[in-house]
Amino acid sequence: MQTRLTKLLKIKYPIIQGGMAAISDAALASAVSNAGGAGIIGSGGHDAKWVKEQIALARQLTEQPFGVNIVLTAEDKDEIIDVVCEEKPTFVTFGAGNPIPYIQRLKKIGIITIPVVANLKQAKKVEAAGADALVAEGMEAGGHIGGQTTMSLMTNIIPNIQIPVIAAGGIADQRGFKAVMAMGAEGVQIGSAFLISEECPAHINVKLKIIESTDMDSVVLGHTIGHDARGLRNKFADDYLALEYSDAQREALKGKMKGVYNKAFVDGDVENGYVEVGQSLNVMTEISSCEQIICKLVKGLES
Ligand SMILES: Cc1cc2nc3c(=O)[nH]c(=O)nc-3n(C[C@H](O)[C@H](O)[C@H](O)COP(=O)(O)O)c2cc1C
Repeated sequence: MQTRLTKLLKIKYPIIQGGMAAISDAALASAVSNAGGAGIIGSGGHDAKWVKEQIALARQLTEQPFGVNIVLTAEDKDEIIDVVCEEKPTFVTFGAGNPIPYIQRLKKIGIITIPVVANLKQAKKVEAAGADALVAEGMEAGGHIGGQTTMSLMTNIIPNIQIPVIAAGGIADQRGFKAVMAMGAEGVQIGSAFLISEECPAHINVKLKIIESTDMDSVVLGHTIGHDARGLRNKFADDYLALEYSDAQREALKGKMKGVYNKAFVDGDVENGYVEVGQSLNVMTEISSCEQIICKLVKGLES
């Protein structure tokens, strides 16, 4: 299955596993790469030393290309970028923040740069700055989101951009994959469906909670303060939403999200932590390997 993305990254299928803070390590990334997609080590929630170790580990686990996701709001992002420049993974994706100051530095040493954008204005800026491809992530995605759906992003961005566009947000089965490819995307980035894979180190309670959840369980917290984060309804989310839409000052929300991500994903407390996951929940019904997930996505489409 050839697209400009498979040629750019030298991968078999145009499928990237999205970087996920604290839970996309070398084991997950290499499993996706070995299955013909491109895995990503998520640096979010980790320091530069961890990133260096995980890149080394991924090189032991796969000979295929993989990437690193850099969260540009991280305080130690410069140290992480230094490590990435030393270790030279095939590609880098950037989340949350302005990637433009870093694109040329990485490109000069041969690292493929793929920023994540949430509208056409951002897409045009990263293209002008020399990005090799971009991920357009719709608000169906898990985690921090913009304001447009994946379908409107495909409609708005693809005709106006020359570099390959990778669609993200709500793609969890072959129908979603085919839909965005039909709209002109040259690949997909998937987070949530890989989150419940065997190889993902997320706590088992999180995977089981996602499997039992359906579309009506998806909520967005932080909209009123401009920090929209999609996840699952639970005790924490209900309490947060009750406060967010009460008469309380916005200040009352400050600090409420601190630590709740790790409480769910690392400690397994799926009631008092926040389980960030995308909206296409009804098809996430079982834990399977990354290879099985990719096989299902591409079955019958090889030609
Ligand atoms: C639990 C979780 C954590 C995430 N963490 C990050 C992150 O650290 N950096 C980033 O750029 N995107 C992050 N994302 C977004 C994913 O990389 C990907 O774009 C998104 O999951 C795609 O939509 P989907 O969840 O519907 O598959 C995260 C998503 C999830 C579900």
